[in-house]
Amino acid sequence: MDPIRVGLLGLGVVGGGTWKVLKRNGQEIARRAGRSIEVTRVAVRDVAKARALLGPDVVVGADPHAVVCDPNIDIVVELIGGDTLARELVLEAIANGKDVVTANKALLAKHGSEIFAAASAQGVTVAFEAAVAGGIPIIKAMREGLTANRIEWVAGIINGTTNFILSEMRSRGLPFATVLAEAQKLGYAEADPTFDIEGVDAAHKLTLLASLAFGIPVQFDRAYIEGITKLTAKDILLAERLGYRIKLLGITKRRPEGIELRVHPALIPSKSLLANVEGAMNAVLVRGDAVGQTLYYGKGAGEEPTASAVVADLVDVTRLHTADPGHRVPHLAFQPDAMADTPILSIDDVITSYYLRLTVADQPGVLADIARVLADSGMSIVSMIQEPNESGDTAELIFLTHLALERKVNQAITRIEQLPFVRSTVTRLRMESLA
Ligand code: NDP
Ligand code: HSE
Repeated sequence: MDPIRVGLLGLGVVGGGTWKVLKRNGQEIARRAGRSIEVTRVAVRDVAKARALLGPDVVVGADPHAVVCDPNIDIVVELIGGDTLARELVLEAIANGKDVVTANKALLAKHGSEIFAAASAQGVTVAFEAAVAGGIPIIKAMREGLTANRIEWVAGIINGTTNFILSEMRSRGLPFATVLAEAQKLGYAEADPTFDIEGVDAAHKLTLLASLAFGIPVQFDRAYIEGITKLTAKDILLAERLGYRIKLLGITKRRPEGIELRVHPALIPSKSLLANVEGAMNAVLVRGDAVGQTLYYGKGAGEEPTASAVVADLVDVTRLHTADPGHRVPHLAFQPDAMADTPILSIDDVITSYYLRLTVADQPGVLADIARVLADSGMSIVSMIQEPNESGDTAELIFLTHLALERKVNQAITRIEQLPFVRSTVTRLRMESLA
């Protein structure tokens, strides 16, 4: 059978890795796909550099539109990133009847509905395994392996850069900026690392997971997003002493009122499996009604781990070239005409446990007054510690609470911050038992 011809847009970290893996494992991959998969055309900005890597058999140019219009290309692999040019190119490829493979979660989280609708109308596939959790086949697992289940919730560490930063800060006491620079050097970070550290990248991925889990449209603009930039070394250490570890989690949960969709740092029990996911590793915990909890773990970023997912999609799409478009696995797991309109809940309506830390004057009645405010807001305390400060006249109080409604917690925090003996704002972190 003739080889399938791939047009590669971008030859950076992931594009370069994809080229290498296809070269190294080409024969084995062809045995699995049923025909060989060959990169025949590439678009990059630095053409000379790419030519030196690819050799004379690949057409290299600086115009990505020429690749998506090339009638000799069967599958377009978009690895440029961003959501402007990439959107244009993906829609153009689809309009030209080409299947698309992409690792671009920013693109799909923002324009997924438009792109999947265009692909369905054209009878082509847009495959995006590499867009969530790098090398972990979480999309295939959720879309196919767990298809018998009513998914209840998904919780994951889905950004390698922030997990690397938190791990290194905790275990080696390194400063934030040093570890971020290291993550950029290792190729984990996004072109704009604010996307990583402010939780945006994790929210892009979580948005896609929520659609796959609950059969809802892709709604990135409804996600609650809080990154790790406001976390202090003090909270990381205090959490550790209390038996917790702080992780940037993406959580999406089905509730009778709607769906929680949120990314934020959270304390999780330090003995839990997720707490022990360190460095740039990713892990996704999925709770289905039939299977219970399943955990998916692996490298969430980097050259070859991400290429592993890109090439897996290439093999799937190659196999699909002989399948009737109407009988393919739907892009978002559920049939396009069976999507639900369950609302995404506001962060105010989220129910979880909390870690609250504040500085107070060390005087009688303080604990009683704070406990009263918490009780008035329906919050029940699990444990409390008091740490005297060096000056001796103030103390640090840390409360861990039972489940509470975020709106009530915020009201309580406002009231606590107005108490005359309170000397700081209240640091509020969410806690997840993952039970
Ligand atoms: P890089 O910045 O390393 O590579 C981008 C590539 O796109 C470069 O080869 C660049 O060319 C090329 N490019 C950029 N603009 C143009 C243009 N206008 N015309 C032609 N080529 C262009 O990015 P990554 O490989 O890290 O990321 C690619 C995608 O994969 C992104 O969507 C990212 O979010 C996603 N992703 C990345 C992961 C990672 O670990 N890095 C993991 C999972 C997903 P040149 O080199 O010549 O400038
Ligand atoms: N910047 C992303 C991360 C790359 O750090 O996880 C993988 O999507």
